[in-house]
Formats: sequence, C-alpha cells, structure tokens
Amino acid sequence: NPPNLQMGEGSVLERSSCRAKGGAPGFKVAILGAAGGIGQPLAMLMKMNPLVSVLHLYDVVNAPGVTADISHMDTGAVVRGFLGQSELEAALTGMDLVIIPAGIPRKPGMTRDDLFKNNAGIVRTLCEGIAKCCPNAIVNLISNPVNSTVPIAAEVFKKAGTYDPKKLLGVTSLDVVRANTFVAEVLGLDPREVDVPVVGGHAGVTILPLLSQVKPPCSFTQEETEYLTKRIQDGGTEVVEAKKGAGSATLSMAYAAVKFADACLKGLRGDAGVVACAFVASQVTELPFFASKVRLGRTGAEEVYQLGPLNEYERIGLVKAKKELAESIQKGVSFIRN
Ligand code: NAI
Repeated sequence: NPPNLQMGEGSVLERSSCRAKGGAPGFKVAILGAAGGIGQPLAMLMKMNPLVSVLHLYDVVNAPGVTADISHMDTGAVVRGFLGQSELEAALTGMDLVIIPAGIPRKPGMTRDDLFKNNAGIVRTLCEGIAKCCPNAIVNLISNPVNSTVPIAAEVFKKAGTYDPKKLLGVTSLDVVRANTFVAEVLGLDPREVDVPVVGGHAGVTILPLLSQVKPPCSFTQEETEYLTKRIQDGGTEVVEAKKGAGSATLSMAYAAVKFADACLKGLRGDAGVVACAFVASQVTELPFFASKVRLGRTGAEEVYQLGPLNEYERIGLVKAKKELAESIQKGVSFIRN
C-alpha cells in the first residue's frame, strides 16, 4: 500500500489499511468543550472505550494540543481535533453521539443558575450546529445549568424541525455516582454494589435521591436520611469550595459522563436492559422535563420510568424540587422563544 496522502490526519506514512477496525462495531462520538477541565479527562476515557471508532474533539481553544496528546494512546478510536466555530460543522458531521461539557463552571458562592448568562448562548450555538449536521445524534448535555440548558436545546431543535425528545439527555449521572458513594460509606458497602435512583433535576433541592429505593434494600434513620440527602444535593458545592475558585467537579464528572455515554452507546448497539438516570422530556410529573430512570435503546431514551413509591420525606422533597425546576425550565424555554 502506498502512503495515503489524502487522509488529513496523522503521518503521510500512515497506511490506510492499518486503519481497518476488523469490522468491530464502533460509534462516532464528538466532545464539544473537549479542552476543558471535564473535556480532557472525558476525551481520554472515551478514547479508551472500545465502542468508539471515531472521536472528534472540538473546542474554541487548545483542541489541537489535546488531540495530539490523546491521539498517541494505543487504543482503537481514531481521534481528530477541531478548533473554533469555523470547524464546528466538520466536527459534528456524521456523529452518533455528541457530548457537551462546554461552558464556564461555578466558583465558590455561585449557584448553577448564575452560569445561565454565559452558558445559555454557548449551548444554543452548539445545538444549532447539531440540528444542521447530525440531527439524529444522541446528545448528552453536561453544561450547567442542566435544568435550563436541556429546555434550551429542545427549543433550538424544535425551531430547526429536528427535535426528537428521546435523543436529548441532560447528564445527571454525577448525582447518582455521588449518591452511590455516600450511601455505600454509610452502609459500609462497596459502592459498586449500591444503586441509588436520583430524580428531579441537577441543582440543589431539585436533586432528589430516592433513598427508600436503594439497592440492595436497606433502611436509614431520619438522621442518616437528612445527612445523605443534603450531602448528595450539595456534592457539587463541596468540590467547588475545596477547589477554592479553580473550578467545579471535573474528574468525577468525566467518570460519570463516560459511564452514562457508555450506557447510551450500549443502548445504540441494541443491548437489552440498559437503564440509567437522566434529565429528559417526561410525563412522569406535570413538568415537561424531569430526571428519572430511563431505558436506553437504539433510538435513545425509549422508556421513561415512573418514580415508584415515595416515602413522606421524599414526597416533601418532590414538591420543593418541582417548584424550582418549573422556574428553571421556563427560563430556558423563554431564552429561545423571546
Ligand atoms: P472549563 O472551563 O474547564 O471547560 C469548559 C471548556 O468549554 C473550555 O475548554 C472552553 O474553551 C470551552 N468552551 C467555551 N465556549 C465554548 C464554545 N462556544 N464551544 C466549545 N467549547 C467552548 O469547565 P468545566 O469544569 O469543564 O465545566 C464545563 C461545564 O460543565 C460547566 O458548565 C459546568 O458547570 C458543567 N458541569 C456539569 C456537571 C453535571 O453534572 N452536569 C458537573 C460538573 C460541571
């Protein structure tokens, strides 16, 4: 084989035949905001995922450096970098899954809603690109405030005529990851054995862990319930304060994002029984969006599960969560409509 001079990636000495993946199933994944605190470890972990054949890394800064670095890992996925708005369309074309951790993170004293002004516009622009270049892709939206950015994305897709509610998923998996960890600590179990459903949204009181539904079945005292609920709701703030202005959760978030993205890819592949929590279009409550367990399949979130029986403490939490969520959802919708 002569060297392929047209590849536009890697060395001119690269033989095109070396790129064959032996027919293994592989998905094309783009990360938007790939040079950031979450984006970099997320890119690294996705490069290690055997379900990924092509990995596109897009950012408005430093994308070439991160791409060069990640591309030296001897795993299967082919990595390509894209820098700046003029390369957004090339980054998105043909993608099966788009993961979005673009936008500024919190500093001490800030709520996620304080990020709205900056991040709403970023999410709008990126979603306009998705509607144009890969309207059938599954979207995993990480950028905060998730409770508002998911409604923003939905409105952008509706305007473009490409909206498929099954394919737009707000990433709340870090809340589940934290809940599993903190509950395991209290119960003295291995966190890998623990499964805590976390529903509602992704900010403060909208984060509602259902401790009455923890697997393996267990019970908590009132004191334990209050401690755990508060710690899970404030987990992000715990990290923001410990980082003292240097950002919010990035490493645990990248881990949680990859866990969720992997579930989405397994669903796309057709695996049975892939279930995870996510913030999605929902009829579980009267609100248009709500986080709960969903079943992931070939077309995205194919089934949104009901909340199941709640105890008194959780019912009160649900009322609080819905009040704040309704406002955040409305704020996102209005940003596009008005
Ligand atoms: P960061 O500031 O380290 O990285 C953000 C990246 O986005 C930067 O590389 C920046 O250049 C890039 N960016 C900015 N504008 C862009 C645009 N128009 N297009 C593409 N890329 C753009 O922030 P970090 O820590 O990675 O956090 C990213 C977002 O994730 C924040 O909004 C944060 O609040 C959110 N987050 C969400 C969590 C969740 O559970 N859903 C958990 C933790 C953070």
